[in-house]
Amino acid sequence: MKIPYIILPEFFSEASSVIKKSLDFIKMTSKNSINLIVKTKNTVIYGDEDQLNRVLINLIKNSEEAFLEKIEKNPNFKGNIDIEINDNNDYIIIRLIDNGTGISDAKKAMTPYFTTKKTGTGLGLPIVTKIINEHSGNFSIKNKTSGSGTIVKISFPKINA
Ligand SMILES: Nc1ncnc2c1ncn2[C@@H]1O[C@H](COP(=O)(O)OP(=O)(O)OP(=O)(O)O)[C@@H](O)[C@H]1O
Ligand SMILES: [Mg+2]
Repeated sequence: MKIPYIILPEFFSEASSVIKKSLDFIKMTSKNSINLIVKTKNTVIYGDEDQLNRVLINLIKNSEEAFLEKIEKNPNFKGNIDIEINDNNDYIIIRLIDNGTGISDAKKAMTPYFTTKKTGTGLGLPIVTKIINEHSGNFSIKNKTSGSGTIVKISFPKINA
């Protein structure tokens, strides 16, 4: 017998408002500063809100865990995440820039089950990449070149709606 399954409905979303809505919720429980910087008017992408929300939650969780490591060494440390939304001709580009520990091995970090945390599953970034790939987007994570912290870059094909 075939088990019926539901295909997630896809629809046009304004990426900036999906992010804003999800940040309003995340900010209620976060002790760190999270800033949304929208540098473009056109942020419409073809995507699933719940999935985009999951991407954001996984990435912010990673940044906040990197902050915890820093707070252990310096209790006065203040975590900061800048989320910038920009565009070019073809893509909506979302950058998440944190001032955490930085990433020890960006390549390995993308491998399923790779974790540097006691209770991590190592599935956060693989899930993020899977969702972004399903949206025909690109994902990359690297260290900042000055100061410690990571830069995540996500790009989604632009829809001219
Ligand atoms: N913003 C970040 N700053 C520093 N290191 C990071 C950051 N994001 C990811 N990493 C590194 O990449 C590894 C893999 O991340 P991933 O989200 O896939 O798994 P995890 O966070 O360890 O576990 P889980 O997401 O299941 O809680 C992390 O263990 C951490 O070492
Ligand atoms: Mg994670």
